[in-house]
Amino acid sequence: MMLWFKALHLIFMVTWFAGLFYLPRLFLYHTLSQDPASLERFTIMERKLFAIMTLGAALTLVFGISLLLSGAYLSGGVPLWLKLKFALLGSLLAYHWHCGRLIRVLRQGKNTHSHIFYRWYNEFPAVILVGIVLLAVFRPS
Ligand code: HEM
Repeated sequence: MMLWFKALHLIFMVTWFAGLFYLPRLFLYHTLSQDPASLERFTIMERKLFAIMTLGAALTLVFGISLLLSGAYLSGGVPLWLKLKFALLGSLLAYHWHCGRLIRVLRQGKNTHSHIFYRWYNEFPAVILVGIVLLAVFRPS
C-alpha cells in the first residue's frame, strides 16, 4: 500500500511541477503582449493551468500525508530530512499561492513587474525541486 502511495505522490508531484515551471513563463509572455486578444488568451491559459496544478498540489499533499501516516514517522519521530523538506514545502506553497495572485493582478492590467522579474521568478520552483529531491535521496538524519 505504501508503495502505491509513493508512486501516486511522485506522479502528482510531476504534474504539479509541470505547472509550476510553465505558469511563470506564461506570465512572462503575458507581460510582453499588448493586444486584447492575446491578453485574454493568456488569462484563460493561466487560469486553466492553475486549476490543474492546484489539483496536482492537493493530490501530492494527500499522498504525502498518507505516506507520513502509513510510515513509522509519527511514532518514531519525524527525521531531519523531512523537517527540512516541510520547510521547503512551505515556501513552495507560498509561491503557488502567489502565482494565483499574479493571475488576478495581470488580468486586471495592474502588473508592476518587468519581464526580467518573471525570468527570475520562474527559477524558484527549480531550486526547491533540487532541494527536496536531494533531501529525499540522501536523507540526512
Ligand atoms: C504535505 C506534503 C508532503 C508530505 C507530507 C510528504 C511526505 C513524504 C514522505 C513521508 C516520504 C517518504 C516515504 C518513505 O518513507 O519512503 C516522501 C517521499 C518523497 N517525496 Fe514527499 N511529501 C510531501 C510533498 C512533496 C513534494 C512537494 C515533493 C517534490 C518536490 C515530494 C517529493 C518526494 C520524493 C522525491 C520522495 C522520495 C521517494 C523515495 O523515497 O523514493 N514530496 N514524501
